[in-house]
Amino acid sequence: MGSIARRPLMVANWKMHGTFFEAMQWVQALSYQLDPADYDRVDVGVAPSFTSLRSVQTVIQMDDLPIHIVAQNVHWANKGAYTGEVSARMLAKLAVSYVIVGHSERRRDFGEDDRMVNRKARAALSEGVTPIVAVGETLEQREGGRAEQTVGRQVSGSLARMPSDQVGRLVVAYEPVWAIGTGRHARPAVAQEMISYIRSRIRSKHGDAADQVRIIYGGSINPGNVAALMAKRDIDGGLIGGASLDPGTLAACVRYWT
Ligand code: 13P
Repeated sequence: MGSIARRPLMVANWKMHGTFFEAMQWVQALSYQLDPADYDRVDVGVAPSFTSLRSVQTVIQMDDLPIHIVAQNVHWANKGAYTGEVSARMLAKLAVSYVIVGHSERRRDFGEDDRMVNRKARAALSEGVTPIVAVGETLEQREGGRAEQTVGRQVSGSLARMPSDQVGRLVVAYEPVWAIGTGRHARPAVAQEMISYIRSRIRSKHGDAADQVRIIYGGSINPGNVAALMAKRDIDGGLIGGASLDPGTLAACVRYWT
């Protein structure tokens, strides 16, 4: 096992919530609750909808906030006849530093598969935007004893044809589908077990890059359960949905050690 300290990453995924104006207010309210010392300990990101990215970027730049802008999706092509889509280059020009790819809601509702997720992740990397590659099993898959098999396949497919130095720089989000929006988070031991499995899987193909890749947990994180999850050795941060819509609750999750 390596001894590299990985910086924690806490990201608010606002999903399809908030107008551009509300998103600006949320970022400002979050910044009022965080101290400079908090940003020293943890990378903080917010993922608003596409329509809010520009406004959120303006607030962050004008107030000089050390908050990362995160997009919720990206297309794999850098331009072209893809009505309704947004390219990694467009995101990079808006100072977007991370993009979520393969969220289970997109896999479920928009037919995203590992091959598409892989293309999206590689497109993001080519523009200097760090992909947050989301994986996770359904309840049926877990109850059928196929959690590791499912997640292992998602990891291999989503990270295919990526050099190890790129893999070391990206983020994987383990989000069990049964824990998303249900109020039923994975027990810390379960999240640790799965995330450690993901890391070992990455190690078998990419060696020491497995010590650098940040693997975060998502699924019903709240201020009451975040500390126990973050205390686990392989869990490097969180992807927070519902609890991130209230800036005070989000700040409490970001400052999980207090
Ligand atoms: P909840 O925190 O609402 O369960 O959502 C998790 C999630 O999907 C973050 O991407």
